[in-house]
Amino acid sequence: MRIWRADPENITRAVTDLRAGRLVGLPTETVYGLAGDATNGGAIASIYACKKRPQFNPLISHVADVAMARTLGQFNAVAEKLAHHFWPGPLTLVVPRQPDCAVHQLACAGLLSIALRCPHHQLALRVLHHFGKPLAAPSANPSGRLSPSTACHVATLLPDINVLDGGACSVGLESTIIGCLEEKPVWLRAGGVARHLIEDCLDLAIDDMPPDDPSAENKAGTMLAPGRLVRHYAPRTRLQLNVSAPDADTLLLGFGPDAPAGAAANLSPDGDIVEAAANLFAMLHALDAQAIASGKQLGVMPVPQNGLGEAINDRLQRAANG
Ligand code: TXA
Ligand code: MG
Repeated sequence: MRIWRADPENITRAVTDLRAGRLVGLPTETVYGLAGDATNGGAIASIYACKKRPQFNPLISHVADVAMARTLGQFNAVAEKLAHHFWPGPLTLVVPRQPDCAVHQLACAGLLSIALRCPHHQLALRVLHHFGKPLAAPSANPSGRLSPSTACHVATLLPDINVLDGGACSVGLESTIIGCLEEKPVWLRAGGVARHLIEDCLDLAIDDMPPDDPSAENKAGTMLAPGRLVRHYAPRTRLQLNVSAPDADTLLLGFGPDAPAGAAANLSPDGDIVEAAANLFAMLHALDAQAIASGKQLGVMPVPQNGLGEAINDRLQRAANG
């Protein structure tokens, strides 16, 4: 693998690789993606294999613009409004597939719906425009592990993959996912767009998807948000939540001005929830390596639930469920 500087030559090289069905690590504003040609079954199969991802867990198709998205999925009024307001940006819309949708069935795990997102990252958009077709891109980490927010993370997590270096991800958390399959939208995953912004845009409250039904977990046809596995985004070390006074064996990830002086890192010394989101995965990666080297465990201070705090706490809870 190689970390590729983002120059025109490497962008061309990335597009050539994608056209040949090969995979490329691609920066987005949320996390780095493991990108492959969404219309190519072989490329999609390599994504699942490379991540060791269960094949029933479908992938997001990334698009250059709304026009490309409309050729793949059917946008109702709510989906149109959300795309208009938040794209390019950290929002994924799950909509019904168009009958002639070019995205390979394997990318949608056989579902009749498709997850679409237009990322807000100049490099990703340049690759998408140049490539001219949708790119399937799950986070560039082995299934279940912490998501990558730098090119270096990708190089460590997936050593066989070439990755375009687009710097540290500005949002640092995966996209928010909204289901727009029926008139009433459904909240599928907390992420880079805070709930209140979406509710303000639509002027309505959005219901959560009903709790996961474990018996449905293997039935692709019935699963609405199959990626919501209980243990996910996990460091290799044990992680304990709501720790304010750590013992000697715990590396503490602090939040805000009240973090104890001995905290190993602080998501945001000022208590800024957006900054905390951007730092979350990078700090967890670093502390995880430190904890493994020193035989310690990880603790994290309480993080408020407001704004992006909902998505941060979602990731932390899944990381802690070992
Ligand atoms: O920010 C992001 O969304 C990043 C960057 C790379 O774009 N991607 C990402 O992909 O987080 P991934 O594969 O790690 O998560 C995709 C989520 C999964 O939870 C999957 O189950 C859900 O999207 N998903 C995909 N297609 C779906 C569909 N048709 N219906 C419901 N959920 C779907
Ligand atoms: Mg992921």
